[in-house]
Amino acid sequence: MKKLLALLMAMAMMLSLAACGSSSSSSSSSTEESSTESTATEESTAAEESSSSEDSSSEESSSGGGQLIGISMPTKSLERWNRDGEYLKEQFEAMGYEVEIAYADNSTEQQNNDIANLIADGVEILIIAAVDGDTLSQTLADAADAGIPVIAYDRLIMNTDAVAYYVSFDNYQVGVLQAEFVIEQLGLDLNDTSTSYNIEFVAGPTSDNNAGYFFNGAMDTLQDYIDAGILVIQSGKTTFEQCATEGWSTDTALENMQNTLASYYSDGTQLDVVLASNDSTALGVAQALSSDYAGSNDVILTGQDGDVANLANIVDGLQTMTVYKNVSDEAGVTLVLAEAILNGESPDEGLLDSLSVDAAYDIESYDNGNGIVPSYLLVPWTVTVDNLQDLADTGLYEWDGDYLVAVE
Ligand code: GAL
Repeated sequence: MKKLLALLMAMAMMLSLAACGSSSSSSSSSTEESSTESTATEESTAAEESSSSEDSSSEESSSGGGQLIGISMPTKSLERWNRDGEYLKEQFEAMGYEVEIAYADNSTEQQNNDIANLIADGVEILIIAAVDGDTLSQTLADAADAGIPVIAYDRLIMNTDAVAYYVSFDNYQVGVLQAEFVIEQLGLDLNDTSTSYNIEFVAGPTSDNNAGYFFNGAMDTLQDYIDAGILVIQSGKTTFEQCATEGWSTDTALENMQNTLASYYSDGTQLDVVLASNDSTALGVAQALSSDYAGSNDVILTGQDGDVANLANIVDGLQTMTVYKNVSDEAGVTLVLAEAILNGESPDEGLLDSLSVDAAYDIESYDNGNGIVPSYLLVPWTVTVDNLQDLADTGLYEWDGDYLVAVE
């Protein structure tokens, strides 16, 4: 089912590519328990795969010409990266490419080894979601020497001139959506300072360049309410570093929230909001609230990614929202971009006309220390218990009773 879905999406992408310049601008668009960590390197021959696919697609699937694509993913321990890896592999193979993919066990050393192996295997292009964006400079210098273009996937890679493009979502907007949800849920009004609400922030790791954008998007949006005393951070943790969670770890988020509850909310003080930057940390926060929060109120809890366990928590009222990012679309945009690069083009804003999903071409926001990296940013959107069907409508989730599960 998934392969057929990937095939259809890849063909849709190619058909829109074929219509490049004549089509209107892009239209709007509309996981599984973490698997055991492994440093998996899988290679398959697209020729075999494409020959086993629908005959009608064999013509479209020949565009890749069997060129070898190198994909380096950070880990299998966070649900979404398993999906990213699968969608990328399926969509590139559906277009006739060979794919070699590696998962780095959240180890920067392993990821450098993975990428060095991909370079040695002669990949034509590298697609990398960094464990830590500031640890790949030397290895990517080797890629540049070998003339291998690099696409930074989802997380910006820092301090290197080897990165040609960045494909991600509007990461600052993720934080804005979380903050706007809090404002709307509490009915906050800067002109009404008669009531105050207690809020805590749970951010991602300082090693993840995205995490700062998530945090800043949220904090910038809520700053006026904090300054007016309408939102109060009892813990006093107001900086990204103070709120950071190493490795996006659920257990670390659980322990940190237990400590915060014990220190600032055990005397009957009500906690009204926890603004967590992603679902894996929100999972730890929800566990802490269930086990260690003495209050009787429902705490507003945010997240990001649409992990299956968190979607269940949203159904059960243990989490209030998540910010969804369609990583199948992210893989599709990466495919179209890679195709253009491999065809010797230098994509710019015009590539947007080849996409079947909403995206922005950004040449201002993402400076990786070596200069601005031209970026294609997809659009995140808010999911609550009221629009879970919109996730099912993507075709990437399906109902299992009252709960959504990822389509395998
Ligand atoms: C971030 C990514 C988020 C989320 C997080 C880990 O870099 O942009 O979507 O996956 O890592 O959960």
